[in-house]
Amino acid sequence: MTRTLSLITPSGRLTLGNLLGALRPMAARQEDAFYGLSDLHAMTTAHDPALLRDRTSEMATLLLAVGLDRATLFRQSRVRTHAQLAYLLECTAHTGELNRMIQFKEKGRGVASTRVSLYTYPVLMAADILLYRPSVVPVGDDQRQHVELTRDLAIRFNAAYGEVFTVPSIATPAAGARVMDLADPTRKMSKSADAAGSIFLLDSPDVVRRKVARAVTDSETGPAAVRADRAAKPGVTNLLDILGACGGEAEGITTYGALKKAVTDAVVAELEPIRKRYDDLAADPAHVTDVFAAGAARCREVTAPVLAAAEAAIGL
Ligand code: ADP
Ligand code: NA
Repeated sequence: MTRTLSLITPSGRLTLGNLLGALRPMAARQEDAFYGLSDLHAMTTAHDPALLRDRTSEMATLLLAVGLDRATLFRQSRVRTHAQLAYLLECTAHTGELNRMIQFKEKGRGVASTRVSLYTYPVLMAADILLYRPSVVPVGDDQRQHVELTRDLAIRFNAAYGEVFTVPSIATPAAGARVMDLADPTRKMSKSADAAGSIFLLDSPDVVRRKVARAVTDSETGPAAVRADRAAKPGVTNLLDILGACGGEAEGITTYGALKKAVTDAVVAELEPIRKRYDDLAADPAHVTDVFAAGAARCREVTAPVLAAAEAAIGL
């Protein structure tokens, strides 16, 4: 079993998409797993301090509520080695290669001014990875370029200053569930808190019912309308995917109304134990804080030798 590392940015609220596409697989892999909330990455665009604190604390509690109680959980900002190594890597990175990062170009487009941290974000991400020496990094298409940069920086640093970093290979993750936005099923369900087509893990049964009822389908009628066809029927396909992933049964369903009822029931049943556990945990916030503090201590232990080796090699 190789070391697993995954960071989620507390820039919004965890969704059913996060649960099915990320948190469930994470819960199934907790041995030598480091799961972090990348609060530093949540500050690369305009942010509200109080909101960031609330989102981070909600996400921390939710990670425990979905069953991540054996992995090492931490907040990135509480493990100072991340920011410290990022600086050393900035002394390795070239502006030309950061200029080429597609995400920076996209997020900066049409914005009057962008934060320097948005520009250097891929370097901090490289530090996030290299500190834990994973041999393989599974990465989706949107982050692939950043992991390639991570490899380039590690190779360059090793060549210039000595073999400090393990250069991770890039793996394509097993195609997990991809949940689409209910209001626009051509887009991925997003955790930004104002997304009307997202089901958040803490949505009440009534809110889930309302959102599913409003989900976009299509105008086809007749007994064959309820079928999967991602290109022609993205909304219905998404509902069928959600139903299946939440343990529901599409067999015998012939109307969109019945499909939505079944999806609502399946999602509500899926979220109910999470909400319940969240409420219990929220009643004892000190416990959550303790778990994350212990996780951060473990991360410092694991990452300190890597930072120390990098510092020594670079001449500090
Ligand atoms: P971040 O900014 O932290 O990358 P995301 O919410 O985009 O936040 O992704 C966090 C994790 O959840 C990633 O593993 C991503 O693949 C997964 N994920 C996010 N949205 C969905 C979705 N709609 N369907 C399936 N998986 C998703
Ligand atoms: Na992402």
